[in-house]
Amino acid sequence: MRMPHGGLHWAVVSLAGIARVVQSLSIDINDLESIKNAASQTAYGSMLWYKGNETGQIPGAFPDKWWEGSALFLSLLYYWHYTGDTTYNAEVSQGMIWQAGSGDYMPANYSSYLGNDDQGFWGIAAMTAAEINFPDVANGYSWLSLAQGVFNTQVARWDSANCGGGLRWQIFPYQAGYAMKNAISNALLFQLAARLARYTGNQTYTQWADKVWDWSASTPLLNNKTWNVADSTDIQGGCKAQGNNQWSYNYGAYLVGAAYMYNMTEKGTWKTAVDGLLGVVLNTFFPQDFNYIMSEVLCEPNEVCNNNEILFKGLVTGWLAFVALLVPSTYDQILPKLQASAQGAAASCSGMGNNTCGVRWHESKWDGWVGMEEQISATDVLSSVLVTQKKGGGPLTSSTGGTSSSDPNAGGNDGSASGKTKPKPITTGDKAGAGILTIVFVGLWAGLIAFMLIGA
Ligand SMILES: *[C@@H]1O[C@H](CO)[C@@H](O)[C@H](O)[C@H]1NC(C)=O
Ligand SMILES: *[C@@H]1O[C@H](CO)[C@@H](O)[C@H](O)[C@H]1NC(C)=O
Ligand SMILES: *[C@@H]1O[C@H](CO)[C@@H](O)[C@H](O)[C@H]1NC(C)=O
Ligand SMILES: *[C@@H]1O[C@H](CO)[C@@H](O)[C@H](O)[C@H]1NC(C)=O
Ligand SMILES: *[C@@H]1O[C@H](CO)[C@@H](O)[C@H](O)[C@H]1NC(C)=O
Ligand SMILES: *[C@@H]1O[C@H](CO)[C@@H](O)[C@H](O)[C@H]1NC(C)=O
Repeated sequence: MRMPHGGLHWAVVSLAGIARVVQSLSIDINDLESIKNAASQTAYGSMLWYKGNETGQIPGAFPDKWWEGSALFLSLLYYWHYTGDTTYNAEVSQGMIWQAGSGDYMPANYSSYLGNDDQGFWGIAAMTAAEINFPDVANGYSWLSLAQGVFNTQVARWDSANCGGGLRWQIFPYQAGYAMKNAISNALLFQLAARLARYTGNQTYTQWADKVWDWSASTPLLNNKTWNVADSTDIQGGCKAQGNNQWSYNYGAYLVGAAYMYNMTEKGTWKTAVDGLLGVVLNTFFPQDFNYIMSEVLCEPNEVCNNNEILFKGLVTGWLAFVALLVPSTYDQILPKLQASAQGAAASCSGMGNNTCGVRWHESKWDGWVGMEEQISATDVLSSVLVTQKKGGGPLTSSTGGTSSSDPNAGGNDGSASGKTKPKPITTGDKAGAGILTIVFVGLWAGLIAFMLIGA
């Protein structure tokens, strides 16, 4: 994932927009049709930002934020799964195949600067497609094989030479972030291995899931007593120190992986892990003060969430719905939190006279933010709350009706397996530049608000 990029969000400057009386997306939590209608509007809003199916454009391509394509397509996969609406299926199939590279989501146009987490998210989207029986594309890579391709290229990068294992954040030494190991890259590999293990029954994936989990627990990234999940740790210090920023997606990525492991093995240690991580997630990110509506607590209070961070709530609510199905004893804990959050999210979609969604769901009104990311997260939570219709079901496996075809040797034919490609160099300055842009933007934005307040 690239460093923060704030520039695509803009605060409202149109006075006409403020004066207009805007309706939020009204949902009745007991009326599934009202929820589906709201989700269809947020999904439509997210696709207004997608140009990949237009003449002369590249399917699934998001210049400067390649990983976000996987977040968009994942939200549309959930949308189809929970509502049955096929409107966007053709775009999802086309985009997810186009960006597949040599069957492992290392497409040459982007592979020189993408990180393990970026690739991991596309792998998770493909795995989800397999588990919900999103139709494989004729003459294209199967969804399952794409997840296997990501797994194969990532385990080839396992770095035993430093800190006894783990994936680095970045793949290439010239990138800022190569010197650290972070939670999300490792949590996504753990999750992918767990999901592949449950889907295929192949023990190699089970062994890798155990290995990534155990290594994570041997570092500050995953504390298996307090269930604290730290964001990153430095290789130079032997992975002893932690950057302890609390992001919901780090927790969610380990949590849902543990839920797959429990579902498959029925081992008490996995149940303990699920309950421990879920407890922290619900207490921290669904605060009682906000009526249990989800909040990305590190960046929302000051409204400084960047594009990546705005997507986290959507990712986590999507995973929580799967946890509720995989570990049925958690269902009654999770559902009310999803319901409160879906209501808050729908109420936030009252911007610009066209149901534009905001960032802070707990305010239950639009907070002035506009972007594809806001639309995606709202679609995720509105779709996920429809999990009530799937009770007793859950993600499929090859022995319970999943039909995506397997290729255990997928991926790795693009020379990227161990980071040996010779891509065009991108200097750390590019990333620093992106960070600086964000600071300038936040400054401008604060100034704009001050101006509006003084003017009012
Ligand atoms: C709402 O209008 C704004 C400004 O024209 C536009 O950028 C945005 O895509 C629209 N969103 C939706 C959900 O229609
Ligand atoms: C692209 O997809 C959008 C959303 O499904 C659709 O409205 C539009 O007509 C499509 N454009 C083309 C050129 O197919
Ligand atoms: C890579 O870039 C070329 C040239 O712009 C384009 O034709 C191709 O579709 C792109 N591929 C991907 C996977 O984005
Ligand atoms: C917790 O992690 C530590 C360090 O890896 C390990 O020694 C211990 O066995 C783990 N405990 C459980 C219950 O898994
Ligand atoms: C595993 O998940 C399925 C849903 O896919 C569920 O019906 C089953 O009860 C779960 N098994 C366990 C042990 O929790
Ligand atoms: C299990 O997965 C491993 C790793 O991808 C692969 O080498 C092996 O062939 C697979 N075994 C079966 C029976 O598919």
